[in-house]
Amino acid sequence: MCGIFGCILKTGKAAPIIHEGLKKLEYRGYDSVGFATIDSGALHVRKDAGRIDEVVERLEMEKMPGSLGIGHTRWATHGAPEMVNAHPHMDCEGRVAVIHNGVIENFMELKEELLQKGHNFTSRTDTEIIAHLIEEEMKEDVEMGEAILRALRNLEGSYALGIVSSTDPERIYVARNESPIVLGVSEHGTFCASDVPALLPYTNQVVYLRSGEFAVMDEDGFQIKNIQDGTSVVRELQEITWTLEMAEKQGYPHFMLKEIYEQPVSLRNALRLQQRYIDLLSAFMDRGRELFLMAAGTSYYACIAASYMFSRLSRLSTYPVIASEFIDQYGSSLGIDSVVVAVSQSGETYDTLQAIEHARMRAATVLGVTNTVFSTLSRRARAYISQQSGPEIGVAATKTFTSQLMVLAQLALRLARTKGKISQDEVDELDAKMQEIPDVVEEVLKRHGESIKDLVDKYAGEKLFVFLGRGISSATALEGRLKLLELTYIPSLAYPAGESKHGPISVIEDGVPVVFVCPRGNSRQNIVGSIMEMKARGARIISICEEGDKNIIELSDDVVEMPVGIPELLSPIPYIVPLQLFAYHLAVKKGLDPDMPRNLAKSVTVP
Ligand code: AGP
Repeated sequence: MCGIFGCILKTGKAAPIIHEGLKKLEYRGYDSVGFATIDSGALHVRKDAGRIDEVVERLEMEKMPGSLGIGHTRWATHGAPEMVNAHPHMDCEGRVAVIHNGVIENFMELKEELLQKGHNFTSRTDTEIIAHLIEEEMKEDVEMGEAILRALRNLEGSYALGIVSSTDPERIYVARNESPIVLGVSEHGTFCASDVPALLPYTNQVVYLRSGEFAVMDEDGFQIKNIQDGTSVVRELQEITWTLEMAEKQGYPHFMLKEIYEQPVSLRNALRLQQRYIDLLSAFMDRGRELFLMAAGTSYYACIAASYMFSRLSRLSTYPVIASEFIDQYGSSLGIDSVVVAVSQSGETYDTLQAIEHARMRAATVLGVTNTVFSTLSRRARAYISQQSGPEIGVAATKTFTSQLMVLAQLALRLARTKGKISQDEVDELDAKMQEIPDVVEEVLKRHGESIKDLVDKYAGEKLFVFLGRGISSATALEGRLKLLELTYIPSLAYPAGESKHGPISVIEDGVPVVFVCPRGNSRQNIVGSIMEMKARGARIISICEEGDKNIIELSDDVVEMPVGIPELLSPIPYIVPLQLFAYHLAVKKGLDPDMPRNLAKSVTVP
């Protein structure tokens, strides 16, 4: 995620307003910042890597002239956070400046075409190609809006764009495909931003641009058009009644709930990874004699789930390892043909970093999956993939967990194709199902987003919960339990269901709630026996199962019915969502703050 902001003022300088606007969007990204303003027909651009206030002060950006301008704060997805990759990006002539939030899927092909037409690029970002595409269309001697519309029709992927040009000094152009952008008007001028918080100090009269729409802004207001056919769109202004604090959460009461509901978008972005990174990491993995998936906390549970994917799809044995145990457990046996995939949302977890340094010392190949492009992990790994989830403010990992799984699933599928251990039809079918997962998660949120509260009300007074699953669902059960534990502090257990007889079943007595994660698939036939074991000892059964799964439903006291047709190997992604919601709402019901659970930090950077 990145933050974009723009304004056209009737009087006064735009730069200080841009600065304030971006500050309200800092939670969307903060590894670099840039402004573009227009004054007397000249385009002024200043930008660099670094936090907003630091860069604005160092480059004296508030002194930039002009009452029209745009600004951008970046969460790097393509290209490290360096000055050259900071937005705005410009065309060869330096007449067009573009800021962007989103991921352009076809930027490599478009860049190739533009290079062949003689364009020079200064960055490695996907965004820069947009400025050159507009420059190309301007050669057709059409007015600016038409040139931009033509350029936009080449793009595939997600974008919220702000565009200014010295050739059209009175206007700002904005466009949206998936990534949000909001327009606002007041007697002082016209505004645009990624999110309402940036507009509230100036206006609460707004319009949300919709996907596939384009708008031309001037100091008196804006006109909206459909990108594909150029037809005009009329839309009423909405009055925003949120407080500023609520607005930063887009109306959600907590960042965690906002981030749970962001998962369809973050999963779509995780599916827009540049294939060359998937190819690179899978090639390294394919060469390894032994493969470790190493992480902490929720990221470790993603590794457990991934180990089932690699084994089933790629016939590769991978060893999920807890970061803090890695050196003691495997440190002495690592060698040059060991491959360690470190999975870390923050890329700064102390135990994970200690483990990769040890692995590097042993000449092992260290790979990374992270959400933070400029993190230590991304710099110390031989190669890494950015999962593109955008900043996750809630301490509890939610959207970053499901995106990690989506990245790891793509790696497992890529290796399945390479190694050819399963049929091409099976791989293609699973790939197609994987592409549907964001929509499935959207459906789960629609079905259970509110109704899960009934389950919370029923079990709110419980003093112990047990979470069980078999096969890959044991990872889902472990993560579901961690969510409940870290948010509500209620003691709970989570085990692979087959382990119950080896100890955990001793805690079961009348009324103890046992949550079973049981999608259809290979492990399902064994889960029925586990449910019967628990019921025989008085447990109350809460099952997360496929809609219409009569056997499970009849055995359960409560069920959360999931959409039909979710492959077992991908089931942790949608099946964790009801458990995220359950933990969140139970914490709220207990009067706790889900965004900041006691004793926990978002990134554990100490031993
Ligand atoms: C999970 O909700 C916690 N926030 C915690 O377990 C977290 O997953 C763990 O600290 C690992 O963090 P990382 O992914 O940034 O390395």
